[in-house]
Amino acid sequence: MIQALGLRLGLWGAGLTAGARLVGLGFGAWRAGRLSEVLAQTHSQRLVFAALRAFAPNLVLKRRFITAYENTGTAIITRHADVTEVLQRDADFAVVYEPKMRLITAGENFFLGMQDSAEYTRDVSAMRLVVRREDVARYVIPIVAEEAAAILARAKGDLDVAGDLTRRVPARLVARYFGLPAGDEDRLIAWTTAMFWYLFVDLAGEEHISRPALEAAAACRIWLDDAIAARHANPTDADDVLNRCLALQAAGVPGMDDTGVRNNLIGLLIGLVPTLSKASILTLEELLKRPEALADAQEAARADDDARLADILFEAFRFSPMNPVIYRRATRDVVVARGTRRAVSIPAGRIVLAANLSAMFDPLALECPEEFRPGRPWEHYILWGYGMHTCFGGHINRAAIPQMLKPLLRRENLHAAAPPDNAGTPFPAHYPLNFT
Ligand code: HEM
Repeated sequence: MIQALGLRLGLWGAGLTAGARLVGLGFGAWRAGRLSEVLAQTHSQRLVFAALRAFAPNLVLKRRFITAYENTGTAIITRHADVTEVLQRDADFAVVYEPKMRLITAGENFFLGMQDSAEYTRDVSAMRLVVRREDVARYVIPIVAEEAAAILARAKGDLDVAGDLTRRVPARLVARYFGLPAGDEDRLIAWTTAMFWYLFVDLAGEEHISRPALEAAAACRIWLDDAIAARHANPTDADDVLNRCLALQAAGVPGMDDTGVRNNLIGLLIGLVPTLSKASILTLEELLKRPEALADAQEAARADDDARLADILFEAFRFSPMNPVIYRRATRDVVVARGTRRAVSIPAGRIVLAANLSAMFDPLALECPEEFRPGRPWEHYILWGYGMHTCFGGHINRAAIPQMLKPLLRRENLHAAAPPDNAGTPFPAHYPLNFT
């Protein structure tokens, strides 16, 4: 009872402090004409969420913040218990991506755009048979470790970490593990970045984002169709994802004709390439801000202590996750947090922003969330979704990010020569680092 009261007081105290800091920050930014820029920063978002968690944990607004997908307004959900509730209630809170997915594939939906259905189970099941959990130890870790080590071996005191490491390694993983043509890295990076931007980041449906994304989709479809046709024409006995897809096709597995294989692969590639890169850069940036954590990570990297290294890196990523919210649309009038004082009615059609960034800083769920504490219970992290649509590549992410950064972290005197440069996209294109 006393402990519960203490937690509530902590929540309200943090909310008040955040509110006061926001007023100062917002006033300064507003005077400088930089309000939207400041609010786009993870640090400011954390302050907004701290205030909301304390005083308006479930906020329902008529305002439409997202216009790329049809909706009647917005609901913002900030407490850990409620964020996970929303992301578990698939029948009430539906994914919205279907129309854009169909434009990417020029026809069919991809399983992230599907509701809980026979089609969803069919496609996820087939892809789980070709991208297997045991592949993480067998293929993902060795390939990522080898590619990252080779890049670092050529680096003499400086490296464009985004341009030459974190974008390259996922693209090479695609070539070697998926069995897709090597040597097309630049195109693959550009296509998947454009498509991801359009599908998940372009909330206003802007033409300058959709046009290049749909052009990228068309080119990527041809590239994949050609790769599939080439494998049919010249079969190999490689144990790669493409051959496993064709083995399922030969066995008559539904949904795995050539177009089905291509559509599933395009979805996975969009999920894999820009995300692993951006997540690694965000993690590294957070680490470089914390000398003690950086030293611990470097010690773990040098000692080949992958578990400890992963704990430190994913705690760093918690402070700046790739997506601060996961969005859904209410399929009918629904109540969230029923039976509590914060229960809220959400009308049908509202876009619901389940704020995973906020959930990971909720003092009612996590012990001392503002502290950097590696090794927290894994279920406290919502770094790549929650519930039915949790990231298909979750196990790959947990292994690949530490392996990609490990050879860099083994170097001494690591420091950034400049902040990450996104080259006009939401994804880091360059991040120059110096080391000895
Ligand atoms: C650290 C890197 C990554 C991050 C931050 C990330 C993030 C996410 C998030 C937030 C979701 C849930 C979206 C939603 O519920 O609306 C998701 C789903 C998904 N991700 Fe990832 N992802 C990453 C890496 C990957 C990789 C490596 C792959 C491919 C192997 C991948 C493929 C997918 C797919 C296919 C889904 C949809 C799952 C489903 O609908 O069941 N992602 N990811």
